[in-house]
Amino acid sequence: MAAEVYAGAVDKGLEGVVACTTKISFIVDATLTYRGYTIEDLAEHSNFEEVVYLLWENRLPNAEEFKAFKNEISEYLSLPADAIAALKALPVKDVHPMAWLRTAASTLALWDNEAQSTDPKAQKRVALRLTARMGMLVALFERVRQGKDFVPPKKDQSLAWNFLYMLNGTDPDEETVKVLDTCLILHADHELNCSAFAARVTSSSLSDIYSSVVSAISALKGPLHGGANEQVMLMLKDIGTVDNAKEWIKDALAQKKKVMGFGHRVYKNGDPRAKILRVMSEKLTKKSGEPKWYEMSKTIDDTVQNEKGLLPNVDFYSATVYYSMGIPIDLYTPIFAVSRVTGWLAHIFEQYSNNRIYRPRGQWEGPEGLKWKPLNQR
Ligand code: COA
Repeated sequence: MAAEVYAGAVDKGLEGVVACTTKISFIVDATLTYRGYTIEDLAEHSNFEEVVYLLWENRLPNAEEFKAFKNEISEYLSLPADAIAALKALPVKDVHPMAWLRTAASTLALWDNEAQSTDPKAQKRVALRLTARMGMLVALFERVRQGKDFVPPKKDQSLAWNFLYMLNGTDPDEETVKVLDTCLILHADHELNCSAFAARVTSSSLSDIYSSVVSAISALKGPLHGGANEQVMLMLKDIGTVDNAKEWIKDALAQKKKVMGFGHRVYKNGDPRAKILRVMSEKLTKKSGEPKWYEMSKTIDDTVQNEKGLLPNVDFYSATVYYSMGIPIDLYTPIFAVSRVTGWLAHIFEQYSNNRIYRPRGQWEGPEGLKWKPLNQR
């Protein structure tokens, strides 16, 4: 009886369900736009901070606004000493950095006296703090894991520059900063993806920004979403040589395994971010003296296309881009979070501004009409 109420109405994985209206980013065929600008245009001409302004304010800043915005972010490029001490006390040994980041982002809320505020100006400051500090958290994790001192960021530098600086403790070169900055632009938002939706679901209960961001980090962590980039590099390492790649992939597909970094719920004609990252991967793997990682990736790309008709997504070529930059493999997904937090924040604000709590139904498949019995009768 109950099973019939919603019979035929199940959209597993919510495929094709339009859950809200949005003006932040949009996918049509193989085109991704942020606030109406194509990702190719932004990746080539813009910078991460400007893209964040665009995502939050619905337009590009003029020169004065851009300077003021960068200054606002810089203001929060610091962490309270007590918060650093608490974060340093968290375990890092055998801890995945995404698990650590989830806890760390939640911990930061305890030092933010505006965390619960519903005043839009205070909420904007919370967003600026999270944007400035997400990279600091990831770098802090890595420094603690290596038994090294935390390197405080420099307020006159960009978020991309500072991330590399905090990670390595030395000034990064301009080209590497540009590569990371482009990666941050490419990962900043992606419509109603799993983590943005998680953020929106949490904020739809009118829960606070930190809670919504922690929900999003938790969703991003999974290998079907942001966790795929790390899995791609582990797969390449496992394959080992270009010559092994084709057979390895054919074998994996024959065993019905998923090849990480391929396929997409929305893109059926290719992910435009993957095209940009492929070019970067080819260039950077050559520059780092290890072109085999790109060659292997290209063989895998061709094989998966031929065998399954699937195209690479953002996570496939970003893996070899980060590897060429010498970034530890398990930091790839945290870097995704360093960028995507800005998109989550845009979604949280959009949700608050036009809210209705998310509350879908499930189609009942369990038994009905059962009667409770005392323990001695079961
Ligand atoms: N490798 C092999 N087969 C894949 C695949 C992959 N990466 N992605 C999808 N498929 C296959 C599925 O097995 C399924 O085949 P079937 O119909 O024979 O059972 C079909 O393609 C549809 O896949 P499905 O998992 O239902 O698509 P989805 O829309 O639910 O999931 C992803 C989309 C992205 C989660 C999925 O493509 C995937 O798991 N990719 C690998 C993880 C990844 O790269 N995630 C990052 C996304 S940006």
